[in-house]
Amino acid sequence: MNEPVRVAVTGAAGQIGYSLLFRIAAGDMLGPDQPVILQLLEVTPALKALSGVVMELNDGAFPLLHGIVTSDDPKVAFKDADYALLVGAMPRKAGMERGDLLSANGGIFKPQGEALSEVASRNVKVLVVGNPANTNALIAQQNAPELDPKQFTAMVRLDHNRAISQLAAKTGAPVSAVKNITIWGNHSSTQYPDLSQATVNGQKALDLVDQQWYEEEYIPTVAKRGAAIIEARGASSAASAASAAIDHMRDWALGTQDGEWVSMGIPSDGSYGVPEGLIYGFPVTIKNGEYSIVQGLPVSDFSRQKMDATAQELTEERDAVRELGLVK
Ligand code: NAI
Repeated sequence: MNEPVRVAVTGAAGQIGYSLLFRIAAGDMLGPDQPVILQLLEVTPALKALSGVVMELNDGAFPLLHGIVTSDDPKVAFKDADYALLVGAMPRKAGMERGDLLSANGGIFKPQGEALSEVASRNVKVLVVGNPANTNALIAQQNAPELDPKQFTAMVRLDHNRAISQLAAKTGAPVSAVKNITIWGNHSSTQYPDLSQATVNGQKALDLVDQQWYEEEYIPTVAKRGAAIIEARGASSAASAASAAIDHMRDWALGTQDGEWVSMGIPSDGSYGVPEGLIYGFPVTIKNGEYSIVQGLPVSDFSRQKMDATAQELTEERDAVRELGLVK
């Protein structure tokens, strides 16, 4: 059995937290040989609710759960953290402009970036789930001068998983038969779920479905799935978001399968003409805890236009938070 690692989770008393914490404690994120200490951050008014979640975690009697810390202070919750899942964010309220949303989230992710920089493990792996996830990740990253920018990532894995599931349903194949889908860009409706390299049971996906379905049904269905779930469930996707966060962190920690890639929101190094520094969804392979962008994929005119549109949205978000003095 390994030494326990410290996993910080923010927004721990929220909907996603309620699914996520139990999956982490059960070993779904880091495997059956890796004990964990959960370090849970909430705002002060939610600490009481969080204490109820802690009671339930204890009642789960998870053999891998070696300790639980709760706090409303990021410097306590992030102390020596090996993994940090930043889930808590300011939701968009009716009548809120995008600028207001970015500014409210700046008030959360700037101090959290600073705290991670100050007290987390020097190798901490950070995943931002709280929306707008890509730009919140950028804010945290830019305020963490003591950490490597590559340690900050954003979640597009839920979109990736939705894209797999929709293609599997269309082709009548199991999800395990679908490989190498990419979500390029922002976790928003401008994201580009790209099937150009995808395969189903080894066959090219775009030979199995028609282009019109792909462009007019598939892409919007994946991009707007979050809204469809709110409409049906009366609440936003939480269990599937938690599951995607587990997948993202598990693959980052333990690696991807040979010949396969996954989608992660990571700092652009300029690959595929994406402006350097944006936190943008890319196809990545992972070995020894390090991700690398899959290089050399052909980019059609259709893809180029979609990839540029989502990059443009992220550039605008970055410019807005730059004006607020939240990033360089
Ligand atoms: P929720 O509202 O149920 O829970 C959020 C929790 O965060 C609340 O308990 C709140 O008290 C806490 N919180 C707020 N500010 C905080 C701070 N400064 N420090 C610590 N905790 C704080 O929301 P839910 O459903 O759990 O979703 C969380 C976030 O995840 C939302 O921003 C949502 O939009 C986002 N999301 C992202 C997805 C993605 O694919 N990237 C998918 C689904 C949700």
